[in-house]
Amino acid sequence: MLHRTIKDSENVTVQATNSPEEELPKFRLPQGQSSASVAYQLTEDELMLDGNERQNLATFCGTWYEPEVIKIMSDAVGKNMIDKDEYRHTAELEERCVHMIANLWNSAQADSTMGTSTTGSSEAAMLGGLAMKWRWRSANESKVAKVPNLVTGPVQVCWHKFARYFDVEIREVPLRSGRYVSDPEEIVSQCDQSTIGVVNTLGTTFTGHYENIEELHRALDDLQEKTGIDVPIHVDAASGGFVAPFLDPGVRWDFRLRRVVSINSSGHKYGLAPLGVGWVIWRDESHLPEDLVFRVNYLGGEMPTFALNFSRPGGQVAAQYYNFIRLGFEGYQRVMSNLRNCAAFIGDEIRSIDRFEIVSDGRSGLPLVTWTSRKGEVDLYRLSNQLRSFGWQVPTYTLPSNLESTVVQRVVVRQGFTLELARQFVSDLQQALKYLDANPMAPTANSHRKGGFSH
Ligand SMILES: Cc1ncc(COP(=O)(O)O)c(C=O)c1O
Repeated sequence: MLHRTIKDSENVTVQATNSPEEELPKFRLPQGQSSASVAYQLTEDELMLDGNERQNLATFCGTWYEPEVIKIMSDAVGKNMIDKDEYRHTAELEERCVHMIANLWNSAQADSTMGTSTTGSSEAAMLGGLAMKWRWRSANESKVAKVPNLVTGPVQVCWHKFARYFDVEIREVPLRSGRYVSDPEEIVSQCDQSTIGVVNTLGTTFTGHYENIEELHRALDDLQEKTGIDVPIHVDAASGGFVAPFLDPGVRWDFRLRRVVSINSSGHKYGLAPLGVGWVIWRDESHLPEDLVFRVNYLGGEMPTFALNFSRPGGQVAAQYYNFIRLGFEGYQRVMSNLRNCAAFIGDEIRSIDRFEIVSDGRSGLPLVTWTSRKGEVDLYRLSNQLRSFGWQVPTYTLPSNLESTVVQRVVVRQGFTLELARQFVSDLQQALKYLDANPMAPTANSHRKGGFSH
C-alpha cells in the first residue's frame, strides 16, 4: 500500500470484545498503552478475516510447516542475518545451505562456490542481474555510455523492476499462440553487443512450463560462432530450482551448461522454508565482480556483503537448513512427487470438463495446472469469485506480451495439499460451475484483476 487517503468516516475506533470499554483509534498511534491480551486480540481479529492460507491456490509460497519449523522461527526471532560475527552459527548454516544448493544445481565448484541467501527471489534476481551488468561493463569499457539490455522470455515482474531500477533495457520476447515459453531463436535475434545476459525461467509464473534452457544454450553458442558475441545466461529458477532436481534430473538447465553464470530460487517456495528467504548462486568467483561486494567492519570482523537489504531475519535460513537435513534428497523427491501427482489429478479432472482447455496439466514443469475457457464459454473471473464462497482463492489473469487476450485460471499445488483436498477442490469447482450456469449474472468481484497478475 503506497498511498491511501483516510476518510473521516474510516477513522473510527476498534474495540476488544473482552474489554469493550477500551477503544483505540484505527489510523493514529493510541495515546496510551493497552494490555498485551487486548492488543493481541485486536490484532488476531484482523488476521482472522484474511483468506485461509492453505486454500490460497494463487501463491507459490509455502503455507504449511512442521511444528519444528515454527519452533526454529520462534527461537531465532531475534537473530539478524547481517550480524554474521555475532551469530556465527546462523552464518555457518547459511554457508552450508549455499554449498548444498550449488551441489544440487550441479556446480563443478560446489566446494568453493559463491552465493548468498536473500529476502526472496526478487532480491536474488536483482543481484544476479547486477553482477551480469557489472561484468558486461568491465568487458565493454568503450560502451559504458550506452544503456545495456537484458533479453528475456516471459519473466516475472521482478525482472521489469530490475530493468527500471538499474537502468537496463528489457527485451522480453513475445509469446505466440500455443507456445507459452520463449523461442531460443527469437531470443538470439534480440541479442547484440550491449546484451548483459539472457534470463530464462525454470517454471514460468504464468503457466509453470520450464523454458528450454539447453536449446537456448545451443542457440547462443551458434550466435557466438557467427558473430563473436558471447552472452551469459541467468536462470530464474524461483520455483523450478527445488522441483526439477528431484523430479526431472534429465532436464539440463543448471551449471552443467557452461553459459549459466547464475541461478536464483526462492527458499520460501518449493524450497519449503518459511516466507522471507531466497538464494542466488554464481557459477564461480569470476562471475561476481569484487566491486559489488561491500566489506563492513562495524559489526565485528570484516564481513563481506552483497545484498540490497542490510538487516533481515535469520530464522528462515535456519529453517531452510532444518528442511535440508530433515528431508534430504529423498524426502524432497517424495514431497515433490506427491505434489506432481496431486496436480496431475486436478489436470485430468479439468481436462474432462469440456468447457475448459488445458494450458499446463501438472504432469511436467511445476506442480500446477492452468486452463482457459474454451470459446469463452465460462467467465473465469466470475468463476474465481464463486470459488471464494468455498474458501478457495484461485486467480484469473491474462498472459504476458502478445497473448494478453488469453485469460487463464491457475491452481498452484504446494506442500500440505493432499489428494483429498484436490478432490474437494474439484467437487467445489463443479458446484461453482453449476451455480454460474443457473445464475449467469453472478458478481465478478475479481474483475479489477483484469490488468494482469504477478504471483
Ligand atoms: C519466476 C519467478 N521469479 C521471481 C519471483 C519473485 O519471487 P519472490 O516472491 O521470492 O521475490 C517469482 C514469484 O512468484 C517467480 O515466479
